Amino acid sequence: MKIVVIGGAGYIGSHVARELLDRGHQVTVFDNLSTGTRENLFSDEEFIHGDILTTDSLRQAFSQGFEALIHLAASKAAGESMIKPEKYSVNNITGTLNILNAASEAGIGNIVFSSSAAVYGEPQYLPIDEDHPTVPENYYGFTKLQIEGFLRWYEKLKGIRSASLRYFNAAGYDAAGRITGLEHNSANLLPVIMEVAMGWRNNLQIFGDDYDTEDGTGVRDYIHVSDLARAHAAALEYITEKKQSLTVNLGSESGLSVLQILETTRKISGKKVPVEVVGRRPGDPGKLVASSAKAKELLGWKATESDVDSLVSTSWNAYGKAIRL
Ligand code: WQD
Repeated sequence: MKIVVIGGAGYIGSHVARELLDRGHQVTVFDNLSTGTRENLFSDEEFIHGDILTTDSLRQAFSQGFEALIHLAASKAAGESMIKPEKYSVNNITGTLNILNAASEAGIGNIVFSSSAAVYGEPQYLPIDEDHPTVPENYYGFTKLQIEGFLRWYEKLKGIRSASLRYFNAAGYDAAGRITGLEHNSANLLPVIMEVAMGWRNNLQIFGDDYDTEDGTGVRDYIHVSDLARAHAAALEYITEKKQSLTVNLGSESGLSVLQILETTRKISGKKVPVEVVGRRPGDPGKLVASSAKAKELLGWKATESDVDSLVSTSWNAYGKAIRL
């Protein structure tokens, strides 16, 4: 299938593009390189340097007869979204509406959308399934939920089928080492811990160790980015073959605490990784774990690389090779 991957030069996008290429699809990456890097582009794909906020560049790009698009281009820092909502309104909402309108004009009828566990907000029960109430606690999660709503309307009015994939915590790197572009200024736990292990940051600030969890630190459902990539390919096959849209959680169904990831990093890297326990981060729930039963049932998909050792060792391989630019 001829597919355009919007945001395909980014951390998750490049893993998704690689998976689609490995499955024999024809892939074009459309990216503005604001956070993605050329380092993450592959020789067996096309690249269009464009911006989803420039409708002409989208219209031009989509005139190449794509059958499907994967949309992973968004701002994704929950904390930042509460300080700069305008950035998230423009990048996430306006950007996606530009994509939907250009796709509709170009007759692209299948969209796989990178949504987020942030649509759920404070957990009312665990594990979180797709029937859990969606009451986002941050503006980032709100933008993702709104986009899911736009997708339902564009299906009703324009016949565009879509898969909304609610990622939990994406982590890890391609085990074969084919993707090396590191995220910059990420606030997420794994990149932060890796930067401390590399000596690029002084210490890891642990945001609270007084949660009602086994060791008191926050527990999250970390999903290996290669497991995520396989789910995108499976979701695309589902909506094109079943001609049905879907919304599914993507998680490993296992929770890992900050301390478990910290200890595994110390073991694998051999580095001290100094820490400082500080106050809780506003809006952080103690524990978030997904139920991915629906993705298993509908997509025949399950996480196979999301154990703590794979998450940490593949991350350390990517950081260990990096030269700080
Ligand atoms: C994980 C755990 C922190 C950094 C975010 C987005 C969410 C989704 C996944 C895209 C928490 C603790 C972290 C640090 C720490 N993204 N932590 N010190 O907040 O679960 O979710 O990523 O869809 O939308 O909000 O991820 O990596 O920030 O935090 O102690 O320096 O690590 O408290 O328990 P989070 P995270």
